[in-house]
Amino acid sequence: MELKDVAFSFLDFPKLELDTGKLIAFFDKYKTTAATYKSTETWQIMTIEAGEWYRKVPIGLPVYDKEARQEFPDLMDLIYSLPVKLERVQIWENIIPVGAHQDTFHPALNCPWPGPKMYRLMLVDPECPTFYMSPNSEHPPEEQRIYPKFDQVDTNVFCFTNEDVFHGSAMRTPGTRKLLIQLAGHLDVEKHIEILQRSVVKYKDHVITVDQLKSMKQ
Ligand SMILES: [Fe+2]
Repeated sequence: MELKDVAFSFLDFPKLELDTGKLIAFFDKYKTTAATYKSTETWQIMTIEAGEWYRKVPIGLPVYDKEARQEFPDLMDLIYSLPVKLERVQIWENIIPVGAHQDTFHPALNCPWPGPKMYRLMLVDPECPTFYMSPNSEHPPEEQRIYPKFDQVDTNVFCFTNEDVFHGSAMRTPGTRKLLIQLAGHLDVEKHIEILQRSVVKYKDHVITVDQLKSMKQ
């Protein structure tokens, strides 16, 4: 298996010991509702770090980096240790199901390397998994979805490819919460490949390949 054929992999970074209740309260204090993916009120979002351009964009959300560093230093240290020159870091929670799609709104990770390079951190995951990869867009049937098992690994960090295949988010069980971090920035491809190389070995039982997804397509 070549690295460029990986559709999804967990990444070898230390697992965070997060106070989930405190994190949810922090998010609820600052979150705002945003519309993406062909719908209104799809997500709730909070920006916790941003580069200079984002801070100057008139429609940019407030950046709560000082608050995040004060309340969750371990989380922010982990984010700063990733091989990404950060342009925008946000906590996201979907409030309706998000159909399978490819991301178009943070082109900074569109570097020429063809493999999985969209970085995310799962912070709070519901009992019922929601993030999935699929060979099809929109709302693929369950047999065309693979849900990575976030509760079976010792990391919060994962990456996936934005090419050839799709990702989406099913709705969580009512009453549960799900928070993840989305990063936009400039990827250090050399460092990323080094991390991915050891990660696909460490998490080999959880790696999803592009071919595996395409073989599910009818
Ligand atoms: Fe997405």
